[in-house]
Amino acid sequence: MERMPALDLISHSPDQTRRLGTHLARFAEPGDLYLLSGSLGSGKTTLVQGIARGLKVGDYVQSPTFILAMEHAGLLPDGRPVRLYHIDLYRLEKPSELLTFGIEDYLADPQGIVVIEWPEHASTDLFDDHLLIRLEFIAETKRRLMFYPNGQRYQRLVDQVRQEVAGGRRRSTTASD
Ligand SMILES: Nc1ncnc2c1ncn2[C@@H]1O[C@H](COP(=O)(O)OP(=O)(O)O)[C@@H](O)[C@H]1O
Ligand SMILES: [Mg+2]
Repeated sequence: MERMPALDLISHSPDQTRRLGTHLARFAEPGDLYLLSGSLGSGKTTLVQGIARGLKVGDYVQSPTFILAMEHAGLLPDGRPVRLYHIDLYRLEKPSELLTFGIEDYLADPQGIVVIEWPEHASTDLFDDHLLIRLEFIAETKRRLMFYPNGQRYQRLVDQVRQEVAGGRRRSTTASD
């Protein structure tokens, strides 16, 4: 049976997806691992742009098309420096290629936050605890985002994101603008 997502959201615009990424970044911790799964155009890179914005990354985040990984310097909300590793395995031909590309070094960086698009192109035993986010194309500007925490750290993270999203909704319905 399909596992139920711990958090199930609809985004109505690229900006809303970016804001979600920013909410997530607010609670990010060094060593975190986020796996983004979903077809081309489902919004994975857009979500990473929001995470990057939340981590105060200055450079523009686009899909790492020819190189598999992009490294960005960022800051946590409390001012600690982090490295955001944005990895896209779309072009990976076979899981064994990963070893030559050194993905384990990224995963082992205690100051790193690793976000991986197309994680299913890797072998699953590569990943310990993580947050899986499945993105689904619903309509032209509508996407579904399903959060599946794997491990306690990520259950707490999803709880925090859920509260943040609910708070944002309350604020926006009471705000005068
Ligand atoms: N609600 C939405 N969330 C995310 N992207 C959206 C949304 N609506 C439309 N889009 C568009 O869909 C495309 C998503 O592209 P991208 O983030 O690169 O997807 P992926 O990395 O999954 O291939 C972008 O052109 C974006 O502007
Ligand atoms: Mg992408």
